[in-house]
This record gives sequence, C-alpha cells and structure tokens, in this order.
Amino acid sequence: MKKLFEIKKLNMHYPIVDGLLGNVKGYVYALNNVDLEIFENEILGLVGESGSGKSTLGNCVLKLIEPTSGEVIFNGENILNKKKKDLKEFRKKAQLIFQNPYMSLNPRMKIYDILKEPFIVHKIKDCDDAIKKIIKLIGMDEEVLSRYPHEFSGGQRQRIAIARAIILNPEFIVADEPVSALDVSIQAQIINLLIELKEHLNLTMLFISHDLSIIKYISDRVAVMYLGEIVEIASKDEFFCNHKHPYTEALLNAVPVISEEKTKKIILEGDLPSPSNPPSGCKFHTRCPYVMDKCRIEHPELKELAPNHKVRCFLCDKNLK
Ligand SMILES: Nc1ncnc2c1ncn2[C@@H]1O[C@H](COP(=O)(O)OP(=O)(O)OP(=O)(O)O)[C@@H](O)[C@H]1O
Ligand SMILES: [Mg+2]
Repeated sequence: MKKLFEIKKLNMHYPIVDGLLGNVKGYVYALNNVDLEIFENEILGLVGESGSGKSTLGNCVLKLIEPTSGEVIFNGENILNKKKKDLKEFRKKAQLIFQNPYMSLNPRMKIYDILKEPFIVHKIKDCDDAIKKIIKLIGMDEEVLSRYPHEFSGGQRQRIAIARAIILNPEFIVADEPVSALDVSIQAQIINLLIELKEHLNLTMLFISHDLSIIKYISDRVAVMYLGEIVEIASKDEFFCNHKHPYTEALLNAVPVISEEKTKKIILEGDLPSPSNPPSGCKFHTRCPYVMDKCRIEHPELKELAPNHKVRCFLCDKNLK
C-alpha cells in the first residue's frame, strides 16, 4: 500500500500565556512525538477522550495550525517546510469537514456562492458544471443553489459542507466529528454518503469520532490517542477483536452492550490528567488497573506486535495479556 502521509515526531505544545504580562508560564502538550502513516484510499479512524489531541492532530496534518516540531510528509514532500504561496496545491488536495454544519456555512451566502468560493480562491474559471455535478453527487437538487443555509436542516447543511470540501477533487479529507452535531437518525445517511464519496472519488480520510460504532462501520484502521500520543493502532478487525492496550479495552467497555456475560471489565475511572502536566512514565499509568512499578517511571515505545498492529504498553513486552 502506498503511503499518502508520513507523520514523523509531530509535536504541538500550545503555550499558556500569562494574561497580563504575556509571559509563557507553561505548555499544553497536545501532541507528543506522534508517528503515523496514512495509506492511500484508506479511512483511518481516530478515537480518544475529549482533550486527547485528535483535532490538533487533524489540524496539524492539514497545516491549519503550525506544529511545534516534526514532519508531515505528503506525497513525498514535507508540507511543514512550505511557504504559504507554495501550499496552494496542497490546500486543494487536502480538505477539512467540520463538526458543526450550523457554523461552517456563511449564513449570508447563497449555496451557489458557497460552492463557488473554492474556485475563486484557487483562481479556477468555469465552475458551473462542477457545481451542478457535485450537488447531484451529494443527493440534492439544483434548486438548492439559490437558497441560503438557514433554509436547510442540519443533515442537509452537512451535505453542502461536504460538497464544498470535495468540489476541487481533493485526495485527502480530515472529517472531524462530522456527524456528532446531527440527529442520530440522520447520522447514518451522512456516514453512508461519505463512504460512497470515498469510493467514487478515491479519497483517503482521517475520520475523527467519539462514537466507536461509527468507527467500526467506517474505518479500515483505527488509532487511539491518549494525552497526545498514539497508544494503539491496528486494522479494524484486529482493533475490535484483539486489542491489547488497557486504555483501548476501557474505551470499548464504555460502550453499552446487552449481554448476559459476566466478565471482568476495566472501567475508566477519573478524568483525563491535565495535558499541561502529564504523568511521568506511561501516561496512562494513573488510571491503569494493570499498572506496574516500571510504568510509573519509564515511558513505553509504540511497538509493532504484528504487521498492522502497534501498541504502547509494557504488558505487551511481557506477554502478560
Ligand atoms: N488553541 C489552543 N490553545 C491552547 N490549548 C489548546 C488549543 N487548542 C486545543 N488546546 C488544548 O489541547 C488539548 C487537545 O485538544 P484537542 O482539541 O486537540 O482535543 P480533542 O481530542 O479534539 O478533543 P474533543 O474530543 O473534545 O474534540 C486540550 O487540552 C485542549 O484544551
Ligand atoms: Mg476535537
């Protein structure tokens, strides 16, 4: 499989600035040495608790925010080294779909103008045919083009936002919780639309979600983040049937299932520790039921257990689990 992205040692440390004097009094360690590959034409699901760094990762990969350090290699080139004017081609090829379709569409613009905007930004003439085609592709009618965003429901707005993201034929999409603001009954339609578009347009996608059932439905591979680190990454089947990290187990246990089975389950207790003052050693050790002395002191590496399965946990070294 060809790598579309190779992310190497990516760090994002947001400075915490003292309001009065403007002094930096600390950092939020939102991403820490993230190494990640994204393969062409896959949907990589990204899960983790609120504040674990998922959106920060998506935004850094698109260079919408400037990471503290690291490399984001897209089609063989490090986009973090590129100047603004050299990024135009990348901006066309890599797009973001936001969580909130109520905020992402300009209320004063007609749908036609919203869809025309990317053509203006990239100085491309003759957009009318493409706009008509894309409206059809997202399952809407041409008459919507003369209407305003407030005339549409959340699901329809998200369709329009998706149309805008794909109208210049991108190769890569970051979908950051694209359905979590929508009614549950609408979510499946939008998820199925994304899958159809992915097939139709040969897209590669980083799909961020809290919802493990959606992740299971849509992803080819799944990565788990905890306090700015990837702690497990595996193919979907391996992830759901043979996960190894205690945090992954806890996340999966948090999903209610109707079952008679009475097995010992890890339940996640306490809050996520502060990313501005993360624990020493393994960052999960403060909440891990299997914690060992070593975990409090040493920091585990993300190690390959099997092809397409990496885990950051000392238990895996010992094969205790
Ligand atoms: N602009 C910013 N300045 C300072 N800290 C930030 C900024 N953006 C995010 N953070 C912090 O970085 C950490 C990671 O945030 P991020 O939004 O990436 O998490 P997330 O996994 O997307 O969470 P959620 O599931 O709630 O969307 C959090 O502690 C957050 O408060
Ligand atoms: Mg987020």
